[in-house]
Amino acid sequence: MVACTNLRLSAAALLAALAAAATVCSAQQLRRNYYAGVCPNVESIVRDAVTKKYRETFITVGATVHLFFHDCFVEGCDASVVVASTPNSTAEKDHPVNLSLAGDGFDTVIRAKAAVDAVPRCRNRVSCADILAMATRDAIALAGGPSYAVELGRLDGLSSAATSVDGKLAPPTFDLDQLTALFARNGLSRADMVALSAGHTVGFAHCGTFAARIRGGAAAPDPTLNRSLVEKLAAWCPDGVDPRVAVTMDVVTPRVFDNQYFRNLQVGMGLLASDQLLYTDSRSRPIVDALARSSVAFERAFVEAITKMGRIGVKTGAQGNIRRNCAVLN
Ligand code: HEM
Ligand SMILES: *[C@@H]1O[C@H](CO)[C@@H](O)[C@H](O)[C@H]1NC(C)=O
Ligand SMILES: *[C@@H]1O[C@H](CO)[C@@H](O)[C@H](O)[C@H]1NC(C)=O
Ligand SMILES: *[C@@H]1O[C@H](CO)[C@@H](O)[C@H](O)[C@H]1NC(C)=O
Repeated sequence: MVACTNLRLSAAALLAALAAAATVCSAQQLRRNYYAGVCPNVESIVRDAVTKKYRETFITVGATVHLFFHDCFVEGCDASVVVASTPNSTAEKDHPVNLSLAGDGFDTVIRAKAAVDAVPRCRNRVSCADILAMATRDAIALAGGPSYAVELGRLDGLSSAATSVDGKLAPPTFDLDQLTALFARNGLSRADMVALSAGHTVGFAHCGTFAARIRGGAAAPDPTLNRSLVEKLAAWCPDGVDPRVAVTMDVVTPRVFDNQYFRNLQVGMGLLASDQLLYTDSRSRPIVDALARSSVAFERAFVEAITKMGRIGVKTGAQGNIRRNCAVLN
């Protein structure tokens, strides 16, 4: 079998082949009910653990979804983002962009892993990468989003290095071409990218990630930002604000995983520059309009896109293992 991560393609063929390659590889590697034989109740065990965590704090939702995104985009969906640094090596999670990864996402994975391992037949049989994929699905459903069948069968990665994060994630200052190119490198289309941006329908962003849109430069406030939101944001994030202060990204329905995110973009209420440009740019606006119009279309597009995202760089065979402790390489 050709390992997905080892595919070699000419530069010209690369873009065209990426999406197809991702699909072919996943068909060989991931499937629903992967653990039916070894740990038949794994999905309900994880769901119960995530539900418990969710009842303690809603922050779980954004934190877990965000963690899955960062995991998949850096070295594939292999739980390398969950690994803690050691005195000898700085792990992915301690890259400077980590400020954005809330502790509750890690805690969700650790707790779900403990719940799985508490069942003797399941102990050390379910990967942390799959636990994160299931927990993400469960967090989205708990917040009122679509509930979908999750593909499983990922192994955990054998390494985690902060240096591998560089260039893999998008800063909110990226333009549409840069965002599209980054997602294309992961086998995701522009439509997938727009749908996945709805991750921002829940969760928080620190003031610094959008501060330039409300004050500072000659271009502030950003003319694409709704004036009423400029005032709110200026009040929530005053000059010299504590960098730990964060605000909800969907200011209308911050706790519901819905298509309000896209309706917000239509009235200039996208928080990050990278959110709002999806509507400002005429190439992605029709996708935003379609997802804003129909929650059925939104849920279908989101489920398709997050399923594709879950196939990025999946490790099998000698490329991975099942970690005994999600935060420590075996
Ligand atoms: C399109 C490119 C993207 C950019 C530029 C981007 C950027 C950001 C930024 C700057 C933040 C705030 C971080 C902070 O201040 O703590 C954030 C938060 C978040 N992002 Fe994205 N993001 C992108 C795509 C995605 C995708 C594809 C997902 C998942 C499907 C996602 C899910 C989230 C979530 C859930 C949060 C909230 C985290 C929390 O509440 O702890 N993002 N993103
Ligand atoms: C760190 O490196 C030292 C020397 O190379 C080694 O003896 C030690 O086991 C390593 N520690 C960890 C936690 O990997
Ligand atoms: C983030 O990474 C920095 C080093 O870049 C580290 O000092 C800090 O403790 C990390 N924060 C979290 C929340 O992991
Ligand atoms: C600003 O947002 C409000 C709703 O909060 C909306 O009624 C208004 O049309 C928006 N303004 C613009 C210019 O989009």
